[in-house]
Amino acid sequence: MLFNQGTFKKPIPSYPQQSNFPNFVPTKRFYMTKVHNFYAGPAILPQEAIDEAIDGLKNFKNMNLSVVEISHRTPEWEETMEQAEQTVRDLFNVGSEYAIAFMQGGASTQFTLVPLNFMPEGGKAAYTKTGTWASNAIKEAKFYGQVDVVGSSEDKNFSYIPKGYTIPSDAAYFHITTNNTIFGTQVHELPNCPVPLVADMSSDIFSRPIDLKKYDMIYAGAQKNMGPAGATLVIIKKDLLGKSGRKIPTMFDYKTHIDKQSMFNTPPVFAIYLSYLTLKWLKKTGGVEAAYERNKAKSAALYAEIDRNPLFEGTTTVEDRSMMNLNFIMKDKSLEGKFLEFAKANHCVGLEGHRSIGGFRASLYNALPLSSVQFLVDVMKEFEKMVKSGKVQVASNATV
Ligand SMILES: Cc1ncc(COP(=O)(O)O)c(C=O)c1O
Repeated sequence: MLFNQGTFKKPIPSYPQQSNFPNFVPTKRFYMTKVHNFYAGPAILPQEAIDEAIDGLKNFKNMNLSVVEISHRTPEWEETMEQAEQTVRDLFNVGSEYAIAFMQGGASTQFTLVPLNFMPEGGKAAYTKTGTWASNAIKEAKFYGQVDVVGSSEDKNFSYIPKGYTIPSDAAYFHITTNNTIFGTQVHELPNCPVPLVADMSSDIFSRPIDLKKYDMIYAGAQKNMGPAGATLVIIKKDLLGKSGRKIPTMFDYKTHIDKQSMFNTPPVFAIYLSYLTLKWLKKTGGVEAAYERNKAKSAALYAEIDRNPLFEGTTTVEDRSMMNLNFIMKDKSLEGKFLEFAKANHCVGLEGHRSIGGFRASLYNALPLSSVQFLVDVMKEFEKMVKSGKVQVASNATV
């Protein structure tokens, strides 16, 4: 297996008895992996990292104690903390001009900390409004000053990435969401940015190489490409710190966490540990460059089927499609429940679109193997056959 997802020797016992589609005979490939996990986050992690985390949960570094039972001041933990930071540096080629911290509070807390740390009193910041998370970030920034929304795709239900906008040169920073997890769009080209660039990379961090020099700050909740929920990674250009002139409460000041190597207070040890093991796996499997090639192949395979299969259609502008979260709907809405049921009966989970928009969303994060995507493609093809042969009823006005 390409990604070392735990292999099942035998068919999953509940199949096909649970299936409401008894005429569907799966190919051999349908038994290759455990459940095919398309959840948007928390999401699939490499089996190898989970196995290593289980070992550490039982006996961390031969201490005869669990990783969650030891002081974060032990040399054993401090070493892991250093390795976690170093692995981030290695993966994104992060030089000493940038500081790294693992924080708590999720990416949503960063929506507040960014303006608090970087926007001076009476100052302003520029944002693009490209989805739910970007809108949340804008809402929080407005507590601290003026927010210029320089580009928005709200007019078309966030189905594209706005372009051709101008970023004011007197803004304290410009904030983007590089991948819109809910709507399935992704920024593929950065705009010219005359001010510090801050990016919420929660759902595409480490999925592709980036030119780090173009960013002044990156943040990401761990629970998609990096690890379990509970840790948030921030990478900040050091010369951005301490400039807003605001009084910042200790725990909300980036400097507090950076100066103490993310251990000013007790860090979320298990979340950082599993994030480190996931990033170590990523490095071992070729780093972000190799992940990018795999992610391109996976997303191309699924988009090709969405475009080919007459039952389905994508929901976003083609040029702005995300490699991480692929959104699609059925032309005949009445089939959506049946397809979801069919996919679930065949161990494809997490395909429901976000509750705010419906349809389907397949998340293809780094740890998801190509075989899971191929499997889903087969499920879509099989469903098409069933519809065409009349085994699944379509609404009378639908054309298939
Ligand atoms: C792009 C993006 N930003 C922010 C968030 C919020 O993250 P958290 O739940 O860690 O606060 C999410 C969550 O899915 C997200 O996808």
